[in-house]
Amino acid sequence: MNSDQQPQAKFNQAVEWLQGSNKIAVFSGAGMSASSGINTFRDEGGFWQRFPPEQFANWKGLLQTALLEPDLLADFLIAILEPIALAEPNSAHLAIAELANYKEVCVVTQNIDQLHQSAGSQQVLEIHGSLFEIIRYPEEQETNVLSRDDLKKIVVELKLAKEQFWKGPKLLSAIQPLIGANLNSFHRPRIVLFGDQLAEPDWTNAQLAASECDLLVSIGTSQSVYPAAGLPQLAKENGSRVIVIDPQVSGGDLWLAEKSEEILPQLVESAFSHKEEQNG
Ligand code: APR
Repeated sequence: MNSDQQPQAKFNQAVEWLQGSNKIAVFSGAGMSASSGINTFRDEGGFWQRFPPEQFANWKGLLQTALLEPDLLADFLIAILEPIALAEPNSAHLAIAELANYKEVCVVTQNIDQLHQSAGSQQVLEIHGSLFEIIRYPEEQETNVLSRDDLKKIVVELKLAKEQFWKGPKLLSAIQPLIGANLNSFHRPRIVLFGDQLAEPDWTNAQLAASECDLLVSIGTSQSVYPAAGLPQLAKENGSRVIVIDPQVSGGDLWLAEKSEEILPQLVESAFSHKEEQNG
């Protein structure tokens, strides 16, 4: 597939591959949730530009920030939690959920926002974990599941705490749902930060999904963080076709340089709407 084909020809090719596939693996990144109001990490003005990963994307850095700059940690938590608390699935998430009505679909997501699940996708592998599941560490035993409303309450409490003169106690009580009620056992959200192992069994199952699919659709990821970013190559090595949907980052056998929330509903509609007519 040469890359300078007209957009329409590439669109038609993608429709054909969707129709002709049996097992589809969807590999999604932050770009999938961009139009739901959640910042990507590496785009202009992205999350890591505001909160450098060396300080905020590892547990040691987070702990140091909590002790030395609690106000900054509060800003970081508000910046992470608020968009996810307020987010709703966008038309890209809904299109992927719709796709599962016609094909066997396994969603492998790097996102921790659970928007694929909120859109109705049943098989979702969260290889970078989930912000909503609280585990006791280091056993990794789940101790609580938060809702988006719980996240909204934490954000409100954090903002109120920031206004107090003695911020510490109020900040601590604001994040209690995230770190557990008592400090004699450490709790935290089941998220994967740099240096952590990917979430299991999701990562093992994601590799299986990539090696068994006949079409992998990579959506809204800079493909820059391994081992997750190796999934499209694993799919290709096992004979799968790869479509990349991303306005800036190319790759795969077919690159659609489009926004996911725009092109995915069109692709699913074009590929399967006749099936709806047939089913009456
Ligand atoms: N539709 C499709 N793609 C989009 C859209 C959109 N509306 N908006 C932005 N993008 C693309 C960007 O072009 C970019 O390639 O989404 C990608 C986002 O890349 P990153 O910000 O690097 O996010 P991601 O690839 O998911 O990062 C992977 O890195 O920091 C870690 O754990 C974090 O899971 C994350 C991982």
